[in-house]
Amino acid sequence: MADEELKKNIGYAAADAMVKSGMKLGLGTGSTAKWAIRRIGQLLKEGKLSDIIAVVTSSQSEIECQNAGIPMVTLNDPKIDGHLDLTIDGADEIDPDYNLVKGGGGALLQEKIAGYASDHYAVLAAGDKLVSGIGPGFKVPVEVVREARVTASKAMEALGAVPEVRMAVKKMGPVITDNGNILIDLHFEKPINPPEMEQKINMIPGVVETGLFTKLKKLDAFIGYEDGTVKHIKVR
Ligand code: A5P
Repeated sequence: MADEELKKNIGYAAADAMVKSGMKLGLGTGSTAKWAIRRIGQLLKEGKLSDIIAVVTSSQSEIECQNAGIPMVTLNDPKIDGHLDLTIDGADEIDPDYNLVKGGGGALLQEKIAGYASDHYAVLAAGDKLVSGIGPGFKVPVEVVREARVTASKAMEALGAVPEVRMAVKKMGPVITDNGNILIDLHFEKPINPPEMEQKINMIPGVVETGLFTKLKKLDAFIGYEDGTVKHIKVR
């Protein structure tokens, strides 16, 4: 099945199974999460859902939400008061303990704030993103303030990583995130302990956040396979 069709199946399956009227939602970023946003918009238009308010996690998901007609507020809005019922988002890798790597699309900071403020999280991914260990595969993205590019890179090297500043395409210089920071992608030769590494990286001065998501509360996974089927796993 074509990649895009499978992503659509995954996004639709998650929205259909997880989103209920009246929910306060965190809406994720990426080519899979966008389909969940579009599906929620469709269900609102058809009157099958009502009273949804959403917090977006990037400028991409903001545009998707605007196009889908989903009412948006910030996480600080008194209607949300820093607490979400459910966040739906994609992932770049998922390990056997359901630790996630995120940030391939550069939006990890707002994604993590929303995800960690949610009672429930739904992760969306194709089956080829399930890995036996994090580190040697997809590089772990870290959002860093510009002034700390060199110092933070050295500190991450001392943790066993090979750091690489993410460069922009169609713009000279580094990728600048929605929050005005840079991204440093980390390659590890051997699998890491994700919860431990998340904590260690977050201690480095100038690091804003890492793309390791290890502390999500209640978690469901929607995993898509080549034949177009989507498996719904109630993880915890
Ligand atoms: C955005 O920064 C990311 O965390 C995405 O959620 C992640 O990269 C998955 O994106 P895709 O669904 O496009 O693979």
